[in-house]
Amino acid sequence: MRKIQVITLFPEMFDGVLNSAMMWKAQNQQAVEFRMVNLRDFGLGPRKRVDDTPYGGGDGMLLMAEPLFAAVNDAKRYCPDAKVVLMTPRGLRWKQSVAQSWADSNYDYIFVCGRYEGVDERILTLVDIQVSVGDYVLTGGELPAMTIIDSIVRLIPGVLGGENSAAIESFSDGETLEYPQYTRPEVFTGLEVPKVLLSGNHAEIAKWRAEHSIKAE
Ligand code: ADE
Repeated sequence: MRKIQVITLFPEMFDGVLNSAMMWKAQNQQAVEFRMVNLRDFGLGPRKRVDDTPYGGGDGMLLMAEPLFAAVNDAKRYCPDAKVVLMTPRGLRWKQSVAQSWADSNYDYIFVCGRYEGVDERILTLVDIQVSVGDYVLTGGELPAMTIIDSIVRLIPGVLGGENSAAIESFSDGETLEYPQYTRPEVFTGLEVPKVLLSGNHAEIAKWRAEHSIKAE
């Protein structure tokens, strides 16, 4: 069973996503186990402080090294060999082939969600890889972590369960994103389903789908 932990100040943000049908199924099948680590629990002093102003001046607050180290070490105690992943716009750009290789690997993961204007750089001594979901800045690493977790978990063998999904991957080398799909009725307000899809000719259908697939970069 793959163990995925998330270090965040906002664990409740993950509730909807981790309880969605696919994630729920993945947990139920014991394909994956999630553990939320609330960074606030490792805050300093009676007010559980987690952030402070940057040395050298500048706007905003940084997540402090001490609570971050304590949270990562807590997650590591639970799962010593897990890879530590920092969500940051400075990181490696996420894409389907990377999701596939992480799903195929047997690694466990600890996702560290940054907040505010950033994190104390010294956390990088505990980080194995930095990941970005794109060249834009979000207010925190939570949405990126959810995106990445979703894209990995659905590729863990047995999770999706659909023969279809396997078929998509088989002729696409994992790089094809989507081809157009239709369901009943055959004609809707004058809009027709492409004839080839109704033909029952599997070779022709596969060819049509390959031609109409959107390729990842
Ligand atoms: N945190 C803020 N923006 C981000 C991004 N684009 N990717 C990953 N983490 C982030």
